[in-house]
Amino acid sequence: MKKSCVLVSGGAGYIGSHTSVELINAGYDVVIVDNLSNSDLNAVEGVRKITGVDIPFVEVDCCDRAAFRKVFEQYEFDSVIHFAASKAVGESVQKPLEYYGNNLTSFMNVIGLMREFGRRNIVFSSSCTVYGEPEKQPVTEQTPRKPATSPYGNTKQMCEDILRDSLAAYEGMKGIALRYFNPIGAHPSALIGELPRGVPQNLVPFITQTAAGLRECLSVFGDDYPTPDGSCIRDYIDVVDLAKAHVAAINRMAGDKNKQAYEIFNVGTGRGVSVLELVRKFEEVNHLKLNYKIAPRRAGDIIAIWADPTLANTELGWTAERTLDQTLAAAWAWEKHIRGINS
Ligand code: UD1
Repeated sequence: MKKSCVLVSGGAGYIGSHTSVELINAGYDVVIVDNLSNSDLNAVEGVRKITGVDIPFVEVDCCDRAAFRKVFEQYEFDSVIHFAASKAVGESVQKPLEYYGNNLTSFMNVIGLMREFGRRNIVFSSSCTVYGEPEKQPVTEQTPRKPATSPYGNTKQMCEDILRDSLAAYEGMKGIALRYFNPIGAHPSALIGELPRGVPQNLVPFITQTAAGLRECLSVFGDDYPTPDGSCIRDYIDVVDLAKAHVAAINRMAGDKNKQAYEIFNVGTGRGVSVLELVRKFEEVNHLKLNYKIAPRRAGDIIAIWADPTLANTELGWTAERTLDQTLAAAWAWEKHIRGINS
């Protein structure tokens, strides 16, 4: 049976493009909207190539309500996955109004238009950043949220609250917030992956660009944290696994399996990996030496966080499947593909 259609906002971006592929693989139709402010049409082309489906794409800014309304008028879809947002923690500290303006306006437009057009199901991209520096590991969905330490983090908390309150008020609508841990890697085809503009702020793109010779040396930010090897610990989740969690969330709502109108799930592996472990793993899996040095701590970094993904495992029927080896091999294959490196 043909499944329904999903609108993917920010579908030309890193996680949005991978999710579009998995939605198509699962039998959904997809419409991608994106303002291309931090993404590239090549990603949409990559998604079309991988799936063999000529997925419709509309260049639109979700903050432009009149333009966005036309998408709702033109396409029939039951569900929306809302990725479209600004995501650089440091930049958000410099440009708070841009971050609040963009992330909150686009999200409120999505919910408002869904309500106006009777579209029912929404998945929101949240983040483990809402937990701050947790007192206990691993974190469950019950772990208390901590006050945000950046405007970016605050927009995630505020959007979660907007979603909770909207779903309590507007009958018939359902929503799931997925709290991502650290998404890394790329599609095994190497046709889509992460494409940061300028100097990468995140660890894995910096590693792959260093390996490719674009950056001279990776700085490992701190080796004097209270962790076994002194570097920070994160839960690195393969982007394809993460994409599949979105499909599971859509399936759950489409099948009326929700227990409440608003639900939250951690999307992580349950495995904490340190920065130094990750660097060594990358070298081992890809048979290369990475130029790196120990540098001072980065302001604002938390020491350690990893997920308890039990709720997603049991309720969504989703589990991270790809190994760290596969993920780091895919990240390198993607970097080589975009830089035209053959070996
Ligand atoms: C941050 C945000 C997260 C956001 C994500 C993507 C927080 C707490 N987390 O994750 O919400 O979704 O960015 O934008 O704000 N590192 C190095 N050298 C580098 C880069 C990073 O050592 O050149 C280290 C960092 O110190 C950290 C780890 O690698 O320990 C991961 O860093 P990063 O990839 O930037 O992600 P987070 O900061 O965990």
